[in-house]
Amino acid sequence: MELKKRPVIFDCDPGVDDAVALFMMLAADDQFDLLGVCPVDGNKSLWQTEKNSCILLELAGKTEIPVFHGADKALIAERRVPENIHGATGLGGVVLPDPVKTVEKKYAWDFMYEMAKKYPHELEILAVGPYTNIATAMLKYPDFSSLVKKIVIMGGAITGGNQTAAAEFNVWADAWAARIMFQSGIPIVMIGLEICFEGRISGEWVKKIDSIGGPVSKVAAQLIGEREVHSKGKGAVLCDAIAAAYMIDPSIITVTDEEYVEVDVRGGYSYGATVGKRCGGMYYASNVIPNTTICWHLDDEKFCQLIYDSCKKLDDQLQ
Ligand code: BDR
Ligand code: CA
Repeated sequence: MELKKRPVIFDCDPGVDDAVALFMMLAADDQFDLLGVCPVDGNKSLWQTEKNSCILLELAGKTEIPVFHGADKALIAERRVPENIHGATGLGGVVLPDPVKTVEKKYAWDFMYEMAKKYPHELEILAVGPYTNIATAMLKYPDFSSLVKKIVIMGGAITGGNQTAAAEFNVWADAWAARIMFQSGIPIVMIGLEICFEGRISGEWVKKIDSIGGPVSKVAAQLIGEREVHSKGKGAVLCDAIAAAYMIDPSIITVTDEEYVEVDVRGGYSYGATVGKRCGGMYYASNVIPNTTICWHLDDEKFCQLIYDSCKKLDDQLQ
């Protein structure tokens, strides 16, 4: 008997690691019904993240998956331009033809709500960019949060950020949106920065992926390889791909805990920090109910193997 597929929306800002995460989700088509891709202003401007989403779907031969029009700035704060770590276009040094595929006229938050109504308590969202689209759905549709099953995010950091000393980029880029999302009551699984530095992709794995030889694998190998070269031998860090890996095979994550996470929106040095309070263990607070599962450790070999398998599967499907 064929298992019912899990309905999922991919919210993103491609982005080198977003691109690999998207490939992984596309390859997991036996498990997921990927309903749509919702780019947002983040690593690059919205027009660029939308264009990149279309380019990547075309490359993987999945043009039937719609791309929806997302938020072009943060909810309240001004647009905050990130470091240029994703290259001029957001896809590192990869050069691909302009897409034929176009973005739907519908807004991402309206699409999310429609899908939440269509799949009540089943819909999952994988969010690997700033959370503006999601928070907009929450603000516009008061029953949205009660309908969504789970949100898996790449974002946040408990012990120190990458954009500032306190804040991780996706949260920092729209801290109000993140705060709204964490307080929504929807169960959140957090792939924070800490676990990202554990999931390293070695030069050996880059060669293996490249040797698959198809268009998806070649692009993935270039995206990952450019990061690996700058890693001083430690291996490429690909944050968003870990969040996709969790979706596909949660057994890749070996240690988690349940915490109550809040986002600092007051401004100042800790703006955008995700402040965790352990609800079990040494920081026990009896009046706090956890809102987040934080993932702390992973099986690196399994993670790299999953990236390899995903690229191979997409390339096999293209033949
Ligand atoms: C996150 O920020 C972006 O640069 C990446 O795509 C990832 O989603 C890591 O902090
Ligand atoms: Ca991202």
